[in-house]
Amino acid sequence: MIRSITKVKLKNKKVLVRVDFNVPIKNGKVVDDFRIKEAIPTIQYVLKKGGSIIVAAHLGRPQGKIVPELSMKPVAKKLSQLIKRKVDFIADSPDSKNIFEKIKKRGEIFFLENLRFSGQEEANDENFARHLAGLADVYVNEAFSDSHRTHSSIVGVPKFLPSCAGLLFMKEYRALSRALHQKKRPYVVIMGGAKVATKFPYLVKFFTIADEVILGGIIANTFLKAKGLSVGKSLFEEEVAEEARKMEITSLKLHLPVDVVVSINLSGRGEVFARGAGGVLKNEYILDIGPDSVLLFESIIKKAKMIIWNGPMGLTEVPKFAKGTEAIALAVAKAKAWSLVGGGDVIAAIDKLGLRHKMNHISTAGGAMLAYLAGEKLPGVEALKNQN
Ligand code: 3PG
Repeated sequence: MIRSITKVKLKNKKVLVRVDFNVPIKNGKVVDDFRIKEAIPTIQYVLKKGGSIIVAAHLGRPQGKIVPELSMKPVAKKLSQLIKRKVDFIADSPDSKNIFEKIKKRGEIFFLENLRFSGQEEANDENFARHLAGLADVYVNEAFSDSHRTHSSIVGVPKFLPSCAGLLFMKEYRALSRALHQKKRPYVVIMGGAKVATKFPYLVKFFTIADEVILGGIIANTFLKAKGLSVGKSLFEEEVAEEARKMEITSLKLHLPVDVVVSINLSGRGEVFARGAGGVLKNEYILDIGPDSVLLFESIIKKAKMIIWNGPMGLTEVPKFAKGTEAIALAVAKAKAWSLVGGGDVIAAIDKLGLRHKMNHISTAGGAMLAYLAGEKLPGVEALKNQN
C-alpha cells in the first residue's frame, strides 16, 4: 500500500517535496511548464494544511558537476509566477550544510538547486539521503516520473523520514496501474522520440505484451538501420541497432515507417521530401514519418481498445516536421480506445490541436511510464510501500 499525502499530518511540518521539474529551458526560460503545473495542487495542499515546503528536483544530466545552464533558478521563478507566491531559491549546492541555516528563516516555499549538481544523488549515496532528510519532517514523492531511478532523493530519503505520495503521484499510479492490470485488446503501443537506449529494454518487453507496436522518431531510425535500410545522416543508436538485430524485427506486430519525411537540414528551411523507407540519401536527415506511414499507423490505431503512446514521430520543434505526430494525436483522439499518453512533445502536439480532453490520461512520465507498463517494479514506488 502506498500512503497518500492526504493521510499525513502536515501542520507546522517542514515537507520535502521531490518533484519532476525536468523541463525544457531555452535562453534561461522554461518553455514547457506542464510538469510544474501538474505538481501545484500538492504544493497548495501542503500550504493549506499549514506546512512549509522544500522543493527538490533535477534538471538534465549534469553528472555531479555544476552546470550553470542547468540551474533550477528559472524553474523556481516559473513556479513562483504560476502559484503567485514567493519562492526562496537556495543557490548553494544541494549537498551544502549552508542550506540548514537558510531554511531556518521564515518562509513558505524553499527551492533547492539541481540535485544532480551533487554526484551523490545519482550514486544513491546514503549520506546525501540523510542530509536531504535532515532538512524536513516529512517526505513527499511527487515525482512518479522519476521513480524508475534509484537515486538518493527517490529511494534514499524515504528510509529516514515518514514518507508518502503526492496527489499527482497517486493520479499517475492509479492510471498506469489500470493500463498494466486491466489491459484491453488490441493493446497498441506507440513509441517515438529519442532516449533510445533507455527505451529499448522496455520496447523488448512490449514486444511480448502488446498486440501491435508502432515506432517513430529516432527509435524507428535505429530499427530501420537494424534492418539494413539507409537512414542518411539521421540520428540513430548503433549499439541499440545491434541489439535490435537479435529481435524478431520482421514480426508482423512491429510497425516501422514505410515512408519518411527528409531534408538536408534540420531547420525546415529548404526543400523537404517524402521518401520510401530505405530510399534516404546519404546527405539527408529523417525528420518525420511520411503520409503512407500515417495511413498505416491510423489503420492500426483505429482498431485499438487500449493505446499507450510515448514520444513523437518526428522533430516536432519544427512545425513542418510535427505533422506526423499531429496526425497520430488525431488518430488516438478519434479511436474508441482507452488512451494513455506521455512525453513533452507529444503533449504539446495534443494541446496544439486542443485534444487533451480526448485522452484518458496524460502522463508527466516518460521512461518511468514505459518501465512501469513494461511490468518493472519502480524503485521509487517500492520505497513508498509499507511506510508506517
Ligand atoms: C524524465 O524527464 O523522464 C525524468 O525527469 C527522468 O530524467 P532522466 O532520464 O534524466 O533520469
